[in-house]
Formats: sequence, structure tokens, C-alpha cells
Amino acid sequence: MAFKVAALLSTFTLIYLLAPLVFTSDIQTSYPISLLVYNSLTNQKNLTFNTDIAYRGILLGAMRKIQAATNKFRFKIKEDPNYGPFLVSVNGVAGNDAKHTYWELLVKPQNGTIIRPDVGVGCYIPNPYDTVILKFTKW
Ligand SMILES: *[C@@H]1O[C@H](CO)[C@@H](O)[C@H](O)[C@H]1NC(C)=O
Ligand SMILES: *[C@@H]1O[C@H](CO)[C@@H](O)[C@H](O)[C@H]1NC(C)=O
Repeated sequence: MAFKVAALLSTFTLIYLLAPLVFTSDIQTSYPISLLVYNSLTNQKNLTFNTDIAYRGILLGAMRKIQAATNKFRFKIKEDPNYGPFLVSVNGVAGNDAKHTYWELLVKPQNGTIIRPDVGVGCYIPNPYDTVILKFTKW
């Protein structure tokens, strides 16, 4: 009996001691990403911002964090009832239907191959060391 209790106690102690290790390795605190603002229709200089994003955090969260940290990055989004938030303007430059201009979301992962995510800023979950490109362009 005493042995059983002791065994039980030590099992609990073990779980208790190991649990934080198991769970903290699962919930990584954060990782770095970059954000590049690129106006392909003017000769405006590219802007690059670096931030940390929460593990499995959405791009929109990282963009809000950058916006809070600097006055060099401002953006506006609009909520689409079906597809969620999409980017309307960056630093005062807005897409225009008549002019066929918009802000395209591109991602350059660590391997350098630029991809075009099929989701918007509200759903895209960056990978560590992604460079997210906000590109003002034409359709
Ligand atoms: C701005 O960034 C884009 C996308 O990475 C790149 O193609 C372009 O050459 C850059 N422009 C300048 C002036 O560095
Ligand atoms: C580069 O990385 C992205 C995202 O991790 C992946 O989807 C893509 O297939 C990779 N491309 C190459 C050429 O390895």
C-alpha cells in the first residue's frame, strides 16, 4: 500500500515536473518575420520592417504590431463578409478599381521562392523568417 502511494506520488511528481517542458516546447513564444512594402507602380523606395510574430500567429497581428511600433507603417483593411479582411491601403496609397490597382500579398519564404498565398492578411500564418511582401500593382 505504502509502496503504491509512493509510486503514484512519484508518477505525479514526474508529470508535474515534465509538463512545463512538454507544453513550452509546443507553444514556442515567437519567431522573426520581415515585412516589405513595395510600390511597383512608382519609384517609391521599398520599406522593410522586422518583427516577431506569435507562434502560429496571423499576419494581421504582425502588421498591427509593426504599426504600433513605428509611424512609418500605416494600413487600412476592409472586412469582406465571405473572405475576411483584405488590404485597402498602405501608407495612404489605396487600391483603385477604376485604375485597376491593388495591394497584392506575396511571400518570400526562407528558400527565396516567391509564393502567392491563396488567403488574405487575416488568414495567412507566416512561417519563421518569411518575408511578407505587400506589393502595390495592377490587375
Ligand atoms: C523592392 O522589392 C521588390 C520585391 O522584392 C524588388 O523586386 C525590387 O527590386 C525592390 N526595389 C528596390 C528599389 O530595391
Ligand atoms: C519554398 O518554401 C515554400 C514554403 O515553405 C514551399 O511551399 C516551396 O515549395 C519551397 N520551394 C522550393 C523550391 O523548395
